[in-house]
Amino acid sequence: LHVIHIAAEMAPVAKVGGLGDVISGLGKSLQKKGHLVEIVLPKYDCMQYDHVPDLRVLDVEILSYFDCQLFKNKIWVGTIEGLPTYFIEPHHPDKFFWRGKFYGEHDDFRRFSFFSRAALEFFLQAGKKPDIIHCHDWQTAFIPPLYWDIYTPKGLNSARICFTCHNFEYQGTAPASELESCGLDSHQLNRPDRMQDNSAHDRVNAVKGGVVFSNIVTTVSPTYAQEVRTTEGGHGLHSTLSAHSKKFIGILNGIDTDAWNPATDAFLEVQYNATDLQGKTENKEALRRSLGLSSADVTKPLVGCITRLVPQKGVHLIRHAIYLTLELGGQFVLLGSSPVPHIQREFEGIADQFQNHDHIRLILKYDESLSHVIYAASDMFIIPSIFEPCGLTQMISMRYGAIPIARKTGGLNDSVFDVDDDMIPSQFRNGFTFMNADEQGLNGALVRAFNLFRKNPESWRQLVQRDMSIDFSWESSAAQYEELYSKSVARARAAKR
Ligand code: ADP
Ligand code: GLC
Repeated sequence: LHVIHIAAEMAPVAKVGGLGDVISGLGKSLQKKGHLVEIVLPKYDCMQYDHVPDLRVLDVEILSYFDCQLFKNKIWVGTIEGLPTYFIEPHHPDKFFWRGKFYGEHDDFRRFSFFSRAALEFFLQAGKKPDIIHCHDWQTAFIPPLYWDIYTPKGLNSARICFTCHNFEYQGTAPASELESCGLDSHQLNRPDRMQDNSAHDRVNAVKGGVVFSNIVTTVSPTYAQEVRTTEGGHGLHSTLSAHSKKFIGILNGIDTDAWNPATDAFLEVQYNATDLQGKTENKEALRRSLGLSSADVTKPLVGCITRLVPQKGVHLIRHAIYLTLELGGQFVLLGSSPVPHIQREFEGIADQFQNHDHIRLILKYDESLSHVIYAASDMFIIPSIFEPCGLTQMISMRYGAIPIARKTGGLNDSVFDVDDDMIPSQFRNGFTFMNADEQGLNGALVRAFNLFRKNPESWRQLVQRDMSIDFSWESSAAQYEELYSKSVARARAAKR
């Protein structure tokens, strides 16, 4: 199959969170299965272009319609992680992707509706006829309605559309008239069964459009797919998802096991594997040294946390975990940053408080290489999310032998199984979980983890080895996407005959 992914992120060139990991991980895995996989991204000024050594301008200049005018787009091509990747650089006076950041601009709706339209125009003008157009999150959820409203009538009708929503909290809404700027018919689309927002009827909702107009709709874990069908978990879209439930499914993400491999990880001082854990201890010592934490005491577990600091991630519980770890005599390292100013300020306050402390360190920035070192150095890894569509950090931490302590929600519920849960076969138990999103819930799990770590080092070691051996690769998840794609293509072909 010819599959084109269109997204706002891709690791390692443009990564804000897990979306970036998924685009390259799923893309590589599908390519390995023999499909022709291509990626389309905006050409941001702030990308890490050193990861795209062969970047060059394509000699097609794409004209795309926006604000009732035609704008030129320069198309660049390069290879990222072995995947042919096209970058769209719009010549729009608003300089949509020259902002020094990926998201969080006042005109994000316009920026990404422009990008979505330009991407489809690129396929049409360049004669690309993919079998599957796979779009991700609200930034590219304009593509299914654009395809239906404009491009199918124009003859770009070979593709089936798959839309994956990685997080229903972010939906991309705007006054209905904003759709006109990318040429969408707002009167046609601002209807309750199409793109009209379910609570504000003069607004349209990009994710709703993605759900309504795609052939396949997925989210990133089976539990989250159930949660978003409920009033409490659906962020206002539960009725839409229930109405389209036949084409909606949750598939658990994998991780890129080449990029996340302690046995080959070049960011680590010492590589290690499940049968030789000495290297893990050495990485812990190295991190302690570099952060100025006190060293070598076998009774002091190192608790790690790497996250965007947003309410979804349970920031109040992360804060609590820092103080609880201190009380329990462990060490805590947080790597994270927040787009929410008051949360960022709050954590800066805590970081200052512990500036010279030898047990606690908060590093409030985005740092890819340091993240690898922290996964390797940590004994435990905390993920107390309020909701979590999938979550990748629990899988990465297990691969590096850091035992997850996670709230039972979304994808965490599908990947972390409590060591004390008798209902789970013992070979699948891999971490510590809790249900209630409060301090007592977290206390129970963290204290149990400390107890096992201190009182039964041999069981702890076996748990570390078991977690490091779990297969979190994309293999089986990519096979599920492959099957969805193939069935959808076959159905379309049968319908044509
Ligand atoms: P989300 O996409 O909601 O942020 P995920 O668990 O799916 O959560 O993915 C988070 C990804 O981003 C992981 O690869 C994690 O290592 C990475 N990450 C998060 N915060 C940072 C940070 N401050 N520095 C480096 N990597 C980070
Ligand atoms: C979103 C979700 C996260 C998920 C990631 C990749 O950012 O918040 O849970 O793992 O997308 O699908």
